[in-house]
Amino acid sequence: MSSDPKTQKDILSNKILFERISELRRKKNAIILAHYYQVPEIQDIADFVGDSLQLSQKAAETDAKIIVFAGVHFMAETAKILSPEKKVLLPDLEAGCSLADSCPPDAFKRFIEAHPGHKVVSYINCSAAIKTMSDVICTSSNAKIIVNSFPQDEKIIFAPDKNLGAYINDTSGRNMVLWDGSCHVHNQLSDEKVIQLKIENPDAKLIAHPECRGPVLALADFIGSTAALLEYSKTDNTKRYIVATEGGIIHQMKKASPDKEFIVVPSDETCSCNDCPFMKMNTLNKLYLCLKNETPEITLDAETIEKAKKPILRMLKISKAANLLK
Ligand code: 13P
Ligand code: SF4
Repeated sequence: MSSDPKTQKDILSNKILFERISELRRKKNAIILAHYYQVPEIQDIADFVGDSLQLSQKAAETDAKIIVFAGVHFMAETAKILSPEKKVLLPDLEAGCSLADSCPPDAFKRFIEAHPGHKVVSYINCSAAIKTMSDVICTSSNAKIIVNSFPQDEKIIFAPDKNLGAYINDTSGRNMVLWDGSCHVHNQLSDEKVIQLKIENPDAKLIAHPECRGPVLALADFIGSTAALLEYSKTDNTKRYIVATEGGIIHQMKKASPDKEFIVVPSDETCSCNDCPFMKMNTLNKLYLCLKNETPEITLDAETIEKAKKPILRMLKISKAANLLK
């Protein structure tokens, strides 16, 4: 055990919180769903850790009475849309998403009106209001398959992530109209830093999330969602990886492959942090309090749920047909 008293105190309080959360979860018939970008201790207590697509499937299929969503607001909202009869809790209601915020509903409505005859494919990182205006939702693990479910000559608006949209345009030979939004965490990962890391670590492979900018993706050996990056790091036989995404995923990568080394891409000089500040708002203590007090709760009106559900269910159906989901 560490001799650092602060660390010992943290370990002790985490142990107590783990026990209390486990007891409450059992008593209240609750399930804890966590995204890979959550802090390690939340990932460790969760019933299920996954990427956005896997988490939405879990939220749709669970028979628990309460869903505690350890992620950000749009994720908990998606869970509520898929399971409206359940109580959906988010440990910190302020845990938003810069990408979702980059697409305000009024402006997006005008954008759709300015492009008549276009289908709307929206990345799941958007508000429920944007989902109600969409024909189908996608995540980073199924975006190509969802877009390719439309005829090649279909006119499509892709929102809100311009980086993911440009990547899908490049790899599917499409010319989708892109909403000008991005995730401030991935968008800041710099190609200069990546090149520098590649020069310093010539034996390491670069693996990147498609929310990164094109110049970073152009350098990558593998591009995929958080779950896909994790799977690649497990099955590929390289020993060292440069990882271009939010740092939370490293916890599972190290757990799965303790013999491998993972080098996280820092941002440019103005910001040395690749942590998502929204994802990191949730703490073990907030998770405990939210389960204990059953608040903050996600609520949505029935009409929004009804309209937003259709494009999400369409996504799940296409993903199942493509064997992306069990
Ligand atoms: P995925 O979970 O699809 O990899 O998306 C990452 C992300 O940015 C979630 O906010
Ligand atoms: Fe949003 Fe980016 Fe944070 Fe994901 S990592 S929740 S896209 S701000």
